[in-house]
Amino acid sequence: MISTTDISKVIAQSQGQVNEQDTSLIVAHLPSLNRRLAFLSDSFSEETLHAIAIKTNPHPQMLKHIVDLGYCLEAASIEEINMAIAAGCPADKIIFDSPVKTRREIEFVSGMTGMLVNVNSLGELDRFPTNPTCIVGIRVNPQVHTGAPEMFDVSRNESKFGVPVSNAQDIVDAALAHPVEALHMHSGSQMKDLEVQRQALISLKRLADQINTVSPGKIHILDIGGGLPSESLSESTRMAEYGAIVAEVFTDSNYLLVTEFGQWVHAEAGFALSRVEYVLDQSRIFIHLGADFFMRDAYTKARPFTLNIWCDDGTQIQGAERNFDVAGPLCFAGDYLAYGATLPTDTAEGNWLSISSTGANTYALWSRHCSRTVPKCIAFDGEKTTIWSERTTINF
Ligand SMILES: Cc1ncc(COP(=O)(O)O)c(C=O)c1O
Repeated sequence: MISTTDISKVIAQSQGQVNEQDTSLIVAHLPSLNRRLAFLSDSFSEETLHAIAIKTNPHPQMLKHIVDLGYCLEAASIEEINMAIAAGCPADKIIFDSPVKTRREIEFVSGMTGMLVNVNSLGELDRFPTNPTCIVGIRVNPQVHTGAPEMFDVSRNESKFGVPVSNAQDIVDAALAHPVEALHMHSGSQMKDLEVQRQALISLKRLADQINTVSPGKIHILDIGGGLPSESLSESTRMAEYGAIVAEVFTDSNYLLVTEFGQWVHAEAGFALSRVEYVLDQSRIFIHLGADFFMRDAYTKARPFTLNIWCDDGTQIQGAERNFDVAGPLCFAGDYLAYGATLPTDTAEGNWLSISSTGANTYALWSRHCSRTVPKCIAFDGEKTTIWSERTTINF
């Protein structure tokens, strides 16, 4: 987690960059992001390609930062492909995973040399020309249950994603009949049981081996997706453990491996700040970020964000504490970030509330409910803060 020293620095430094209308700020902590990306790379063999899921944090400057470090990007829509290209990402470092590619989109990506384009169904293969210059992959549903929460579990038997691995013969036949060179799977977000995921990896490899037995070398890329929950690097074991499992499963094989992590990379590498607007009855505070920024949390179950209270000069307010409900700004009853959060009794109007680990699936899911302005985004490089984007209205 980002240290309170750094949060303090960011608050103090950003005061010259905010005005009265900046009632909240979204902060990218680049040293933390860089450390996480390096840890990810170190957890897998050197040749493995890591495509970071754009959907998790699509800020254009964030994409540029990731691309400049040499990582690939995973795009879930044609719009995200355009964003990847605008960020300077070469086509052969983009993975395209939309489950609803139009014929027109397929025509476009078919000519993007080296781009990995994963089809979601075998029928989609018929939409490709016979000699595309992109690399075509088939998304396989491994039909495993890794312990992901139901909403993020994309590998159930009835999942809308990929071709069930139980249809192995159909997958083999289709791969042999079409210009397919890759297989892909993404078992779901927030996987808990890595031994189950090991079985999924084994079944993906078995399928690729089966195809290659008939047509040697045809499948040469295996895209194993993302899906690990966030964890702090100081306590990290899961990413390293997962890397070890992947190494075991693919030992002595020549497949080029590709990953597609999102949440694990981004969540801990960002935080948010909101002015405390009202303190009511010493039991409830109203802030300026709610279900518009914390869409998943407000509509499902809130993550246990670490909350702290600060003065403008970066001094943390500490001392006696009591429980507060933290209400967001939207006009609907469920718009709470936390219930009974422990905060200083002295919390007052005008203080900053810091909310840790907000780098994933927050800015990306900004909601137009109540049409509030997307906050200013700033980046902290360990020394100084830079404005990445100004407040942006979505009223169009
Ligand atoms: C195809 C695909 N790849 C990668 C990801 C990133 O998942 P995570 O953030 O859990 O790593 C997602 C998330 O929805 C996805 O659908």
